[in-house]
Amino acid sequence: MSELKIPKRLIMTPGPVSVDPRVSQAMSNSILGQFDPDFTSIMDETMTLIRKSFLTKNQWSFPIDGTSRAGLESVISSIVEPGDRVLVPIIGRFGHLFAELVQRVGGIVHTIECPLGEVLPQEEIIKALDMVNPKVLAIVHGETSTGRLQPIDQLGKACKERGIYSVVDAVATYMGTTIPVDEWELDAVIGGAQKCLSVPSGITPITFNDRFSEAINTRKRVEEGIRTDEKTERETFIKSNYFDLTQLQDYWSPKRLNHHTESTVMVYALNTGLKIALDEGVEQRSARHEYHHKGLKKALEALGLKIYGDKDHEMKMVICVEIPDGVEANQFRQELLEQFGIEIAGSFGELKDAIWRIGLMGYGVQKQNILTFISAFSLLLSQQGVKGIDPTKALNTLIKYYEQA
Ligand SMILES: Cc1ncc(COP(=O)(O)O)c(C=O)c1O
Repeated sequence: MSELKIPKRLIMTPGPVSVDPRVSQAMSNSILGQFDPDFTSIMDETMTLIRKSFLTKNQWSFPIDGTSRAGLESVISSIVEPGDRVLVPIIGRFGHLFAELVQRVGGIVHTIECPLGEVLPQEEIIKALDMVNPKVLAIVHGETSTGRLQPIDQLGKACKERGIYSVVDAVATYMGTTIPVDEWELDAVIGGAQKCLSVPSGITPITFNDRFSEAINTRKRVEEGIRTDEKTERETFIKSNYFDLTQLQDYWSPKRLNHHTESTVMVYALNTGLKIALDEGVEQRSARHEYHHKGLKKALEALGLKIYGDKDHEMKMVICVEIPDGVEANQFRQELLEQFGIEIAGSFGELKDAIWRIGLMGYGVQKQNILTFISAFSLLLSQQGVKGIDPTKALNTLIKYYEQA
């Protein structure tokens, strides 16, 4: 058998990112049966950790097996019935993903949009709630495609007052900034594993409150073969089986409904990743992201690069820079990877050849990595003949920042 050879990388994309070696180590443990009491106690502990990560008391805080969109899809397919109106504010690609998920379950999407690189004022979103009167507001917190942080702190309350359910994609911001779910009165929030939490992709922590739970349970159906009562469900039962949150509630509770076969290894990874992050502290982790973001931004500006987008609403876990004239965007990224083992990302749609996205997420957000990144990145830019690039100035700016900050 030939051995897998995985090259060494410094991943500076908006995910997936490198994981803490303690997470990899946890994943090398033996498999446990999913109903083994030693495993179910890890499940219970993981629920407690997820609650802490979202600063919530929500009983219903558990992971979905699958990548982050599995979390989004489980929430949308459980709450949205055919014909339900859903308001989706769109500030980039992942807003469109919400719209797509709603359409696929027969919901009627109403969108409001703003120019790329900007965010929507909350008052405008609340106005749209009054005009559309939707069942659900589905909104992205950190729009990784444009690097914008959409303000959402007023929206949960506004939705609640109007009898609307608020659903938030916090995939990219989760554990990179504080998301106080209870304080912001959000009904359902989806986090992400492979970004600021720095756990491999394939498991997605979510949380939802009792109000949301009551709503989805009117659509409950337990599959035949494991059903224990003969209750007939409404015509509009949740159509997805895998992403049916009500069956998953029965699995992630003492009922231990035999729904799917849990990926025990991924639960070990999530459990360990959460412990590492919570040991650091939600606020401290958020501050760490902000601190390095500020330093790297200064260095990129010292290089003469233009930072993309509305400066007042930047995500601290991704910096978008405009690609300088004369540089072939993809080829540059490829060379950065081949020569230095460093990966950065492009973007999507009309931003595809306009910006690079430099991720600052979770475990890898460390001084040494950022110094290494700026050295290689600026050197390669100057080798490509980009005018005015001064690698020494960029590096010195960053060193000075770290010395003074
Ligand atoms: C904001 C946001 N939402 C959703 C997703 C989808 O996540 P996944 O690719 O893990 O399914 C991503 C992935 O990059 C994202 O950045």
